[in-house]
Amino acid sequence: MVSQTIPVGTFDLILFGATGDLARRKILPALFRRFVAGQVVDSSRIIGASREDLSIDAFQERIRAALTEFVPSSVYCEDQLDKFCQMLSYQSVDLRADKGWSELSTIIAQGPNDIRTYYLSVSPSLIESCTQKLSSFELITPDTRVVVEKPLGTDLTSAQMLNRTLRAVFNENQIYRIDHYLGKETVQNLMALRFSNVWLEPLWNNNYVDHVQITVAETGDVNGRGEYYDAVGAMRDMMQNHLMQLLCLIAMEPPARFDADDIRNEKLKVIRSLAPVKVSDTVRGQYCSANGSFKEHVNSLSSRTDSFVAIKTEISNWRWAGVPFYLRTGKALSHKVSEIVVVFKHLPHSIFPDLGEDYQNKMVIRLQPSEGITMHIGVKEPGPGGMRLMNAPLDMSFAQIAGEMEVIDAYERLIMDTFRGDQTLFMRGDELESAWAWVDEIMAGWDASKAAPLEYRVGSSGPEEAIAMMARDHRRWQSLGAL
Ligand code: BG6
Repeated sequence: MVSQTIPVGTFDLILFGATGDLARRKILPALFRRFVAGQVVDSSRIIGASREDLSIDAFQERIRAALTEFVPSSVYCEDQLDKFCQMLSYQSVDLRADKGWSELSTIIAQGPNDIRTYYLSVSPSLIESCTQKLSSFELITPDTRVVVEKPLGTDLTSAQMLNRTLRAVFNENQIYRIDHYLGKETVQNLMALRFSNVWLEPLWNNNYVDHVQITVAETGDVNGRGEYYDAVGAMRDMMQNHLMQLLCLIAMEPPARFDADDIRNEKLKVIRSLAPVKVSDTVRGQYCSANGSFKEHVNSLSSRTDSFVAIKTEISNWRWAGVPFYLRTGKALSHKVSEIVVVFKHLPHSIFPDLGEDYQNKMVIRLQPSEGITMHIGVKEPGPGGMRLMNAPLDMSFAQIAGEMEVIDAYERLIMDTFRGDQTLFMRGDELESAWAWVDEIMAGWDASKAAPLEYRVGSSGPEEAIAMMARDHRRWQSLGAL
C-alpha cells in the first residue's frame, strides 16, 4: 500500500526545553523522521530554547548525537542528517527572567514562516512564566499554537489553574494538549472502525454488548522514574489520561462531522456521563518481588502509591446503561499490551453445544504490540467430521494491510497535526477538567477508606482481587498474553 506524504506548511517551531530528555528522545527524532519522509520542508526552522548557554554549533552537535542514538541508521543517510541539523538554531533563555528573550524575538522575527508553534517541553512550574514572557515580548499572534505535555495537572484544581494560565494568553483553538495515546495508529483506526462501517453501529450498545475491557499493561517498572511516579501513581499517570481517552473513543456517540470540536464534544459527554465509582469497584495494587519492590524503587518503604489500578465503571446514558466497563493498568506485569476487548452478549439460544456455555463473540482491538483487530466468531470446524463448531479468530493485522508502510510514532503524527492546525487528537480543556473531576472523586474514596494498595508479584497479571472483581460479575479478564 502506498502512503501519501503531503508536506506540512513551512513552520517555525520554538522548542522550550530543547536540551531535555523528551526533546532528545521523542520530539526531535519525530521531526527528523518526518523530514526524512519528505513531510517537513527544509525552509522550516526549529529553534531550540533552554537555560543552558550553548552555541548553535554545540546544540546541533548535541542533537545530531541524539538522533544518531534514537533513530535507526537504516531510516536516513548522513546527508539528510546534515540538512536537518542546518534547520536547527538555538537561543539560551531564562524562563523566569528577561535574559535571552529579546534575542529570541529577533530570531523569530527574521523568519518568513507563517506557522509558529511553541512547544513547552518544560516542568509544569515554568509554564506560567514562559507564557507570560511570550505575551509580554509580543510573540503571540492569533495564529500561533502552543503545545503542552503531561503532567497536565495532578488534580482538578491544578488542571484548572493550568487552563487559566494558558487561556490568559492563548485561545482554546491555539492550545494543543498532548496525550500520546491519541496519536497511536490503532486509536485513529478505532474511529475509522466505528464510523465507517454500517454493520457495527446496530450492535454497539447495551442490547448486544455485555461488557468492555480496556487494558494498558506494562512489563517495565518505575525504576529510574521513582520520584515522579511515587507522587502520581497509576491512577494519575495512566488512568486519568490514556485509558480515559480510549474509553471515550469506544463509547462516544457518532459525531456529526469529522471535526475536532464535534469529536471532542462527544468525548466530553462520555466523561460527564460516567457514574460515580464505589471503592469496592476498584483495586489498587503495588508490585513486590525479592529482586526489587515498588517501595525500594521509589525509595520510600512507607509508600502507598498504586502501580496498578483496576476499575469497574458505567456510563449512564441510553446507549450504555447497564454495560460495565472494566479498566486496568499497571507496571511490572507479565506482558506489555494495550488493548480494548468488546465482549458481546451470549446467544439468545444456542443450537451448537460444541461452542460451550461460555461462548461469546468478542472484538479485540489491539493497540500494541502487533496493532490490529481480531473478531472472535463461531465457524464450522473444517473437514468432513460432521457439523462441529469452533470459536475462531478473524484477524486483521494492520501490519499486513499496511504492507511495507512503516507504523509511525505517535509524536510524529501529533507534531505534524499542530502544524496542520488540526486539534482532533488533542484534549480540550473541558475534557481534561472533567477527567480530573472523575479521578479526584475516586481518589477521595481511597483516601477515606485508608486502605493500602494490595501487593502483587512482578511478572503477574496484577493483584488476585482484580480477577475476583470480574469473577463476582461472572466474567473474566482477557488473558494478558492472549492474541
Ligand atoms: C506515559 C506514562 O504517559 O505512558 C508512562 O507516563 C508509561 O509511565 C507510558 O510508561 C506508556 O506509553 P506506551 O506508549 O509505551 O504505552
